[in-house]
Amino acid sequence: MATVTIDGVKVEVPAGTLLVEAAKQVQKDIPVYCYHTKLGPAGLCRICLVEIEGMPKLQIACNTAVTDGMVVNTVGDKASEGRRAVLEILLLNHPLDCPICDKGGECDLQDFSMAYGQGASRLADPKALKPKAVDLGPTIVLDEERCILCLRCVRFDDVITRERSLRTEDRGVRAIIATATGQPYRSKFSGNVTEICPVGALTSKTYRFKARPWDLHRTKTTCLQCSVGCEMNVDTRHNIPLRTMTDPDGKISDGWLCDRGRYNVGFYDDERRLTTPTVRDPGGEQLQIAWDDAISLWATSIRKTIDTHGPGAVGVIGGGRLLNEEAWLLQHIYRGLGVKNIDWRAGRQRQATPGQYGGTLSDLENAQVIVSTRRPLSRTAPIADLRIRKAVQHKGARLFTVGEIPADAAVPETHIASLDRLVDVMPASAQRIAFIWGGVRKSTGDDLERVLNTLTGKTLHVFIPGEQQNSRGAEMLGCIPQDGGLDTRGMLEAARDGKLKSLAIFGANPLAHYPDRALVEAALAKVEFLVVGELFPTATASAATLVLPVCGPFEKTGTTTNIDGERLMVEAALMAPDGVYSDLEILVGFAEALGVEIPEPNAIESAVATALAARASSGLVNASLYRADELAPSLREDEVFSGLGTAAFDAPFATVLTAPLVATAQGAS
Ligand code: SF4
Ligand code: SF4
Ligand code: FES
Repeated sequence: MATVTIDGVKVEVPAGTLLVEAAKQVQKDIPVYCYHTKLGPAGLCRICLVEIEGMPKLQIACNTAVTDGMVVNTVGDKASEGRRAVLEILLLNHPLDCPICDKGGECDLQDFSMAYGQGASRLADPKALKPKAVDLGPTIVLDEERCILCLRCVRFDDVITRERSLRTEDRGVRAIIATATGQPYRSKFSGNVTEICPVGALTSKTYRFKARPWDLHRTKTTCLQCSVGCEMNVDTRHNIPLRTMTDPDGKISDGWLCDRGRYNVGFYDDERRLTTPTVRDPGGEQLQIAWDDAISLWATSIRKTIDTHGPGAVGVIGGGRLLNEEAWLLQHIYRGLGVKNIDWRAGRQRQATPGQYGGTLSDLENAQVIVSTRRPLSRTAPIADLRIRKAVQHKGARLFTVGEIPADAAVPETHIASLDRLVDVMPASAQRIAFIWGGVRKSTGDDLERVLNTLTGKTLHVFIPGEQQNSRGAEMLGCIPQDGGLDTRGMLEAARDGKLKSLAIFGANPLAHYPDRALVEAALAKVEFLVVGELFPTATASAATLVLPVCGPFEKTGTTTNIDGERLMVEAALMAPDGVYSDLEILVGFAEALGVEIPEPNAIESAVATALAARASSGLVNASLYRADELAPSLREDEVFSGLGTAAFDAPFATVLTAPLVATAQGAS
């Protein structure tokens, strides 16, 4: 440890701590541009000058490690004069277009100029202006003339994503940020550079010129686009989400967002949004119906089906896109009616919980060996993939991929033909081992479990990225066939054969996502009463008898369960359109219409907490979740993993997609 005195206050910090970080311990914020906690020091901009006793010249705080007994002055005339001089150089050719710059109001150049700048330029010649609004790629615009060459963006691309597609070009006053290949900047994490750029040089195409920070209302919530569940701030104006921002201290997100989570937020006010319940008339036309009548129709129909054919003629598909409380209530109400045919699995995934091998994302990051049996996680759980890149590049982990998985060139990986080869190639000293499994093929799960059983004495964790954001929650909360109930395929077959008369689908689009589309088509055409809760007229909603418009994830409050098994808070950032209700509100109304008693909200919360706390004590593969006839894995992964099926209805998102997220059947294990 080292004791250092900063502005007269003594503080003890681990020896080697950077001065800029030590100063935070005594609530002193030293101005920085190029330094970023997660990127480390670069020593490029020199704005962080401080006085250190015994040193004749000012020193940069971002690249100076504290030593025991060090006495530092972060304020005062000398430091201010140094910063003033730095700012004068930085502003020499800067266009100072604060009145139109998107960063205005949250720009460090603006703020530090106010604090230390000299107020007027001494430049006699015209400024050397660089190009404005350069199209850097599908997501990002670069105003070259605003760039102060702090290289945070380049370092993010190198240190964090390991993609190395950005670099500086040219020298001196002509230096600019450019892509290494001259091709557009494409990354699944590109939006982060707009946040870490300390000035308004990098902006997102979806937010540029939309608002000023002081116009925005911020809500902290959880991203519901995949099973990672990143911490996210949603900035809205006039009830429209204009941008999403990271939580720099996010424990799940590690301070970043992926582009899917960041940009797939433009669907809320899409004109295709469903806002009125509709019922299909005998001629097949969808007619508007009042909410009370819709709920009453649903309840009457269910009662009639159960009275005539028994509860075995009723089924429920869905839950994985719902919040925990909604998923719990959905199965609770139907089970109260005696219905056992309930399944969240509307796609290809069969299992979402890793049994006794559950771990946290920090376990993933700290693993010494990571074994992936599925396609690159950057598609399915992007921010979890950044943890793997960090583990490999910065913490020395070895990454093994099994079978025919497309290579992800970001970090070195070793392909092995089968899991059985792992023990031969893995370093014997590795104690902490993490596995990624898709939860699709039982055969892969069985292979994995066999290998896990051989690794006695080691710390083992398995991560199953859910196809839906709350796959794990839905499974743990009972949206799964029990006591002889039918699974999704069983329900579809029974419906096709005329045995299942009534089907409810909530937060799922099996016509688009289920691998056997012909079966779904036959089933939905035959089932007598199909009720679908949806945001948009998806293929499945279009086949329904009764369609109920539901809230999107930013329009409701509750909790979700992520890949870690953590229960995460979801806060409403928007008011839902008139006439649109959350699944929870709809289910409460449905229970009332049925005369079924449901617990108070607090009791639902406790039931959810209790169910989520229950952990499997042994094993990995839950054999009861699999059928003998394993499903063919071919599926359009782009739709399953593009959030809540909203990507197809998000025009702004479509314009900034880096590449079509088209899947192949490979590696779907
Ligand atoms: S674009 Fe922004 S982050 Fe990148 S070097 Fe310029 S100022 Fe720094
Ligand atoms: S990794 Fe998943 S939860 Fe995180 S920002 Fe991306 S889509 Fe959202
Ligand atoms: S922040 Fe210290 S040199 Fe840039």
